[in-house]
Amino acid sequence: MTQVTLTSLAARGQAVGKEDGRVVFVDGGAPGDVAELEYTRVRKNHAEARIGRLVTPSAQRVTAPCPVFGACGGCQWQHVSEEAQRAAKRSFVVESLKRIGGIESPAVEATLTPVPPYGYRNRVIHPIEWREGRPVAGFYRRSSHELVEAPVCAVARPEIAPVVAAALQGLTRATGAGGESVRHLSVRVGERTGETLLTFVTGEAAFLGAEPFAADLVANVPGLAGVVHNRQPDAGNTVFGAESRAVAGLDHVRERIRDLTFRVSATAFFQVSAPGAEALAGAVLEFLSGPKASRVLDLFCGGGLFSLVAARAGATTLGVDSAAAAIHDARVSAEWNQLPDASFRCGDGEGLAEEALASFRPDAVVVDPPRQGLARSLAERLASCAASRLAYVSCDPATLARDLKILLAGGWRPVKITPVDLFPQTFHVETIALLSR
Ligand SMILES: C[S@@+](CC[C@H](N)C(=O)[O-])C[C@H]1O[C@@H](n2cnc3c(N)ncnc32)[C@H](O)[C@@H]1O
Repeated sequence: MTQVTLTSLAARGQAVGKEDGRVVFVDGGAPGDVAELEYTRVRKNHAEARIGRLVTPSAQRVTAPCPVFGACGGCQWQHVSEEAQRAAKRSFVVESLKRIGGIESPAVEATLTPVPPYGYRNRVIHPIEWREGRPVAGFYRRSSHELVEAPVCAVARPEIAPVVAAALQGLTRATGAGGESVRHLSVRVGERTGETLLTFVTGEAAFLGAEPFAADLVANVPGLAGVVHNRQPDAGNTVFGAESRAVAGLDHVRERIRDLTFRVSATAFFQVSAPGAEALAGAVLEFLSGPKASRVLDLFCGGGLFSLVAARAGATTLGVDSAAAAIHDARVSAEWNQLPDASFRCGDGEGLAEEALASFRPDAVVVDPPRQGLARSLAERLASCAASRLAYVSCDPATLARDLKILLAGGWRPVKITPVDLFPQTFHVETIALLSR
């Protein structure tokens, strides 16, 4: 069998090598490995493989601590050193900016690492399957709906596993009273307050027998602020439905970021870790307060992280998000922190941006869109808007590069582009691109 030397990491997590002139993407490989490969798919120009025999392990290899690593689809890189992960993430950003953004030699900072390598995720969502009358929590195997049992996750905050264990025990006792209808359970923790929130997702409007067993959990699990029932009537891949209600205790936790208290509800977006949120907010705020931004438009504002941090620093802010739960959180947080100059609107970012740019007249804009990036029409509108500073926070280097191409053509110039490792052990990279005119 031929031996292949793996040379780098690819944006979807696999290691990359070449055999017979064809690029091979290798699951579980590390740059520097020499290996014999087992092919899983062969195409004309590229192939996919896994390691058949590791002939010479790379010096960048480390031992993965999690017992389900390799089976669970959550992490891809527990076997790769932290230095190599950071270098790969920076190179994903550089390569995207060159290839997709058309920027010849992009100046990209070293990857920031505000988050510890393990035990950092403040929310876990487990699919639940019933096996022989017992609920099993885990994660899906990569690219499948096959559940790998894993009630403890190595990258999750340590407060989460005891709540999952108590929830599974509670569900076992609730068998016959609706427990079997639970499709997902989610646990969220306020890292700085220690409060946890447990959410059960079912397809049915009623979660039979929920109240007594939920009240029992709140009474007996230390730190558990509440139990929420979320109804997701659709059978597709979206975990949460629109309807949530607390069946015991509260429907949110509190989180502290910088000197602010945030309301974080069961289903709304919040950054995956408090130090990660602080790093993003700090970088954005430092930029906005250069020559002080007085009017900040925060598109895709979620629970208002950037808005409220900027408002605390003296700006008047307008945040826009399509998720009603996130906007409710943001408005309550503005009240809690006595920030009357932070206002929020619920609706489509693209639709509301035009109106907000015209009537709110921001001098700075923050955008933090989901993976798909900006709609072309929104990128074009921002390219020609009158603001003098733009902070683009992105979770996908490819769509960031595509959108920056439009923004730079409109006269924006990059001030600083920084990859941030918010998700150690995975291929995901966050990027903060700061632009000015
Ligand atoms: C990456 S999160 C950013 C949240 C926020 N900036 C933060 O740091 O907490 C993306 C947000 O975009 C929102 N969103 C997705 N599509 C949207 C759209 N078409 N219009 C407005 N908001 C949208 C989601 O609800 C989510 O809160």
